[in-house]
Amino acid sequence: MNNTMPAAPATDDVAAHLGESSPGTHLERPDNPIMACEDVDIFYGDFKAVSNVSLQFGFNEITALIGPSGCGKSTVLRSLNRMNDLIEGARVEGTITFRGEEIYGKKVDPIEVRRRIGMVFQKANPFPKSIYDNVAYGPRVSGMKVESMDELVESSLRAAALWDEVKDKLKDSGLGLSGGQQQRLCIARTIAVRPDVILMDEPCSSLDPIATLRIEDLMHELKQDFSIVIVTHNMQQAARVADRTAFFTALSAEGSGDRTGVLVEYAPTRKIFDDPADQRTEDYVSGRFG
Ligand SMILES: Nc1ncnc2c1ncn2[C@@H]1O[C@H](COP(=O)(O)OP(=O)(O)OP(=O)(O)O)[C@@H](O)[C@H]1O
Ligand SMILES: [Mg+2]
Repeated sequence: MNNTMPAAPATDDVAAHLGESSPGTHLERPDNPIMACEDVDIFYGDFKAVSNVSLQFGFNEITALIGPSGCGKSTVLRSLNRMNDLIEGARVEGTITFRGEEIYGKKVDPIEVRRRIGMVFQKANPFPKSIYDNVAYGPRVSGMKVESMDELVESSLRAAALWDEVKDKLKDSGLGLSGGQQQRLCIARTIAVRPDVILMDEPCSSLDPIATLRIEDLMHELKQDFSIVIVTHNMQQAARVADRTAFFTALSAEGSGDRTGVLVEYAPTRKIFDDPADQRTEDYVSGRFG
């Protein structure tokens, strides 16, 4: 199989990073999911990019989506807060629920969905505004009732572990911060509207190892208050942060060159790395994929 992925690290290396899991992660699946996908297919026009995905996301857990490039991780992630609506031709079939309610239901406002289920992108994308206004932006445009914007900005920046570094320059442009600081600013901006779920698409891929570890530490803190879904190419990162891990791969459809993403295996992270049920998972997490 052809793939352009950098080699994943060896299992032993990853095993050393496996951290403490959440109390519920002895169970195969979260018993009390905040979100769930059932039989989800995702299309771009006629092309079926993702087929038949069923997944549950636990409350106050971190769920990692891993797999080779093109297997549909970002596509699945974007379907969780209706970000795919913004891509022409993209279509989601099947059921995706948030707190038991279908997010693609006719009466559901996609903007409200995106407020409850926020997203942090691969490349930090602060607005060309002050640090303060970046954080205040979401609450302002969504018309959130806020007693003190100063307090909301401070608490969001504290929660994103950025306050101490920026408290004396809140009026400076967000674009003047380092890459790692910008990513934490984007996290502060996301949490300012008090979402329940935070989706992160390779949030550390352009950061150095120290900035990456800061974001990972931050994720451990954030999961006390939020449920997090992260896409990552970094096996150690999945092992370090995620309570559960879903491994996807792309299968070639017969008679066409199309490759459709499927969920191979979903389990507590420790199981995925130490004792995967599927050979393809084992090959991927141990770096033998190719
Ligand atoms: N906007 C789009 N329009 C058409 N096809 C798309 C679009 N975005 C993704 N695809 C296709 O859907 C499939 C899954 O892509 P996706 O970006 O979800 O993969 P990924 O697992 O996130 O890959 P990577 O690890 O490289 O980010 C690929 O075949 C891709 O070409
Ligand atoms: Mg992607």
